[in-house]
Amino acid sequence: MSDQPSDVSVPHSVRGLSIVPDAWLATIMNRDVHRITGVWEEQEGITTLQELRQLTLRPGFAYAKIATQEVRTSHQLEECGFRIVDTALTLETPRLRHVGTAGPLVRLATSNDAPRVVDIARQSFRYSRFHVDPDIPLSLADEIKARWAGNFFSRQRGDYMVVAEHDGRVVGFLQLIAAAEQVLMIDLVAVLPDFRGLGLAAAMIGFASMTCGHPRMVRVGTQSANLPSLALYYKLGFQVVSSSHIFHHHGPSR
Ligand SMILES: CC(C)(COP(=O)(O)OP(=O)(O)OC[C@H]1O[C@@H](n2cnc3c(N)ncnc32)[C@H](O)[C@@H]1OP(=O)(O)O)[C@@H](O)C(=O)NCCC(=O)NCCS
Repeated sequence: MSDQPSDVSVPHSVRGLSIVPDAWLATIMNRDVHRITGVWEEQEGITTLQELRQLTLRPGFAYAKIATQEVRTSHQLEECGFRIVDTALTLETPRLRHVGTAGPLVRLATSNDAPRVVDIARQSFRYSRFHVDPDIPLSLADEIKARWAGNFFSRQRGDYMVVAEHDGRVVGFLQLIAAAEQVLMIDLVAVLPDFRGLGLAAAMIGFASMTCGHPRMVRVGTQSANLPSLALYYKLGFQVVSSSHIFHHHGPSR
């Protein structure tokens, strides 16, 4: 699952590093939010770094996802006061393993499922960059995930929503994005704690790979600390293809 439900708008500063407003997150966090993208380059001069430093002096929140090998960029962010909160892994598989077809009832969601899916999203996540950041209250982290899933039903995010039922009640969901080049991206996946280990997540991913378009590849992002999700993806045949450090910066309080 990619931790980036962001509004992708025109970069505030181009060249190596860019500072991009994130309107979606700003609304939920009730403060200015900026995303830092790109790679810092020696020859780019000091403009972007000065802008970054100015940004960190203002109230607000900023975040960056930097490829693990881009150590110079990470160091520049650290010098500006950014702190690492997570190492994100991207995994892919062209062919799923160990996906049973019989068993749990798995289907595409309808609009009637919206409240239940939002509720599951609000209760389920513990390892996201918002949940592990000690400067973000858990209730706010839960709300971000709840609205993220809710965005599917208001047609603002995602192309497919799969749900899993147990005894007639929806207990898990899988939100997906149909990306370029027939890549199906797992955007969010969660199963309520009491129903984990029953094969529901594996069944939903298997259902999606057969039902949601004709994907050439399934891709997912997760956190290196999220061992249950890594175990799930490894079991299904996913392999790590890239890693990034996630940085957060909280400006001074207003
Ligand atoms: C990750 C998550 C969706 C897995 O859902 P699940 O329905 O319990 O997973 P499944 O039962 O389909 O597990 C399939 C396989 O994954 C592995 N697995 C899943 N959870 C595991 C755990 N806690 N420990 C070890 N292996 C685990 C096992 O190999 C399992 O197969 P097996 O039981 O036959 O050995 C669930 O733990 C969850 O909702 N977590 C919170 C939300 C979250 O972090 N989502 C992922 C964000 S990227």
